[in-house]
Amino acid sequence: MTIRFDATGAIARIQRICDTLEIADPAEEPPALSPDEPGHPDYHHRQRVEHARRVLARVTPLRYRSATSDRPEVVAWVEAAVASWRSRATSEPVPVPSLLLYGPTGTGKTFAGFGALRRVAEAGLPRFGAEFASWPELLAQLRPGSGEEREQGLRRLMDAPWLLLDDLGRAKDSAWTEEILYRLVNHRYNVMLPTIITTNVPLKQFTAVFGDAPGGRLIEMTAGGRVAVTGEDRRLVR
Ligand SMILES: Nc1ncnc2c1ncn2[C@@H]1O[C@H](COP(=O)(O)OP(=O)(O)OP(=O)(O)O)[C@@H](O)[C@H]1O
Ligand SMILES: [Mg+2]
Repeated sequence: MTIRFDATGAIARIQRICDTLEIADPAEEPPALSPDEPGHPDYHHRQRVEHARRVLARVTPLRYRSATSDRPEVVAWVEAAVASWRSRATSEPVPVPSLLLYGPTGTGKTFAGFGALRRVAEAGLPRFGAEFASWPELLAQLRPGSGEEREQGLRRLMDAPWLLLDDLGRAKDSAWTEEILYRLVNHRYNVMLPTIITTNVPLKQFTAVFGDAPGGRLIEMTAGGRVAVTGEDRRLVR
């Protein structure tokens, strides 16, 4: 028996099936999506920004909820860090620089740090996440914990996509604090995750105060973003 194909009839039948199922001709332009619809880049950008704002609100202490920073060095760092973060998804990722805000007490370092983080959040990055840790507070929390609790607390900060490490150096130093700092900094240094650091310690004293290994890494990580926050103690001049 010979089977004969009737090409014209077959195509007509396929066309009828496509019409019935409302399957569009792939050669035709898909209907334009509105910016409010899933699938439109603007829609997904807005979703990412809203997610980032929620993450930031969760980790930001009340005093710094409305912190902003339009310092040119902070703006430049955010632009560079955001561009490097986006490059992580490409075949040629570049290291994401960290930011160092240093200067005397009360000049606005923590405020500027949250301002920087807010700018990052507003960029609508993929895989945004953030943690905040005050260094003396962190040590006080880790010290009495069991080995496992300590490990979990530290790992959360080690792996945070963006970390604001506040008041570094404002704690009594010991071999144990240096080891904690080394583990935190070394991990973030290795996987090149961005850290915003505030401190009263001058850069020249980093290795002496933090230890050679953590101090040297901090210097290298922040080479692309160091801001001297100067002026009067804002708490006293009100
Ligand atoms: N640019 C700013 N505009 C308005 N208020 C600010 C600004 N910068 C800082 N402040 C306010 O000044 C006070 C001190 O700021 P902040 O806590 O950031 O100082 P700091 O340098 O981190 O101090 P410390 O070294 O003691 O941690 C806070 O009340 C903060 O809200
Ligand atoms: Mg501070």
